[in-house]
Amino acid sequence: MKLKCVLSTEQFTSRQMVNELLDLAGEMEKGLQRGSLPQSLSGKIVACMFFEPSTRTRLSFETAALRLGGQVIGTENAQISSSTVKGEILEDTIRIVSGYADCIVMRHPQDGAAEVAAKVSPVPLINAGDGGNQHPSQALLDLYTIKKEKGRLEDLDIAMVGDLLYGRTIHSTLTLLSLYPNNRFHFIAPQRLALPQKYKDLLKERNVFFDESEDMRAVLPKADVLYMTRVQKERFESKEEYEKLKDAYILDTAALGEAKEDAVIMHALPRINEIALAVDKDPRAAYFRQARNGLYMRMALLHYLLGG
Ligand code: NCD
Repeated sequence: MKLKCVLSTEQFTSRQMVNELLDLAGEMEKGLQRGSLPQSLSGKIVACMFFEPSTRTRLSFETAALRLGGQVIGTENAQISSSTVKGEILEDTIRIVSGYADCIVMRHPQDGAAEVAAKVSPVPLINAGDGGNQHPSQALLDLYTIKKEKGRLEDLDIAMVGDLLYGRTIHSTLTLLSLYPNNRFHFIAPQRLALPQKYKDLLKERNVFFDESEDMRAVLPKADVLYMTRVQKERFESKEEYEKLKDAYILDTAALGEAKEDAVIMHALPRINEIALAVDKDPRAAYFRQARNGLYMRMALLHYLLGG
């Protein structure tokens, strides 16, 4: 099954669908190294509409489009510099932009915005993050990273730590990883930031093992993948509440000492306090490699949607 839009990782109902993109990302990585990338976006225009701040996601999508011979339009500050400021509704903005571009990459603060936008878009739309809901391209690049770092996507103990309530990368990534056999999830969060019931139900439906706790140190010795997250400040109504929770978990070199020797430390970035800078030197720290992998996966996604 070929997708027209990539809005949520729940659209990926089989490992084959994911594997196809992982393989394609591998080809893109090799192509870039050899200087022989397909110019499959030649003559195509990608619109990047970002209603929320972004560094990695927007710039890697833009780079991906340019590397494949495409061109890019868009706004990095749509919440203040598009007609949204004048009161234009999202559907109208998308109707207009889809008349100019061949594909829309959109980030928006509202949960479900990508689905609303895709309904009125005649061109492929990629959800680059909608509120605390989903971030499917991040999930795909996360799997690409785990495959590269660990050599497999199955039979892994995966610890996800921090803001599991609003962390959209967590929601997307666990959904994809649960398609692979024998993975076990360990969710570590303060109660206030626990994983939404919806994702627990999904794991139960798929017969995937998970447990929940507030104690990061207890899972460190068994985690193959340690996925740290930032507490999502922008989703809190109360600054005090954020302040109370923001440093709930900090991975420093002492904590890392308890982790497996071949663990892989991931983070979608930006990192605030949750990973001490000293951890960066450890070979297990994969987050900067992970960010680089985003470029390969986003080339794969654009090629898949537009280049075929
Ligand atoms: C993430 C996001 O926007 O959800 N960032 C990213 O895309 N790399 C994670 C975050 O902002 O904490």
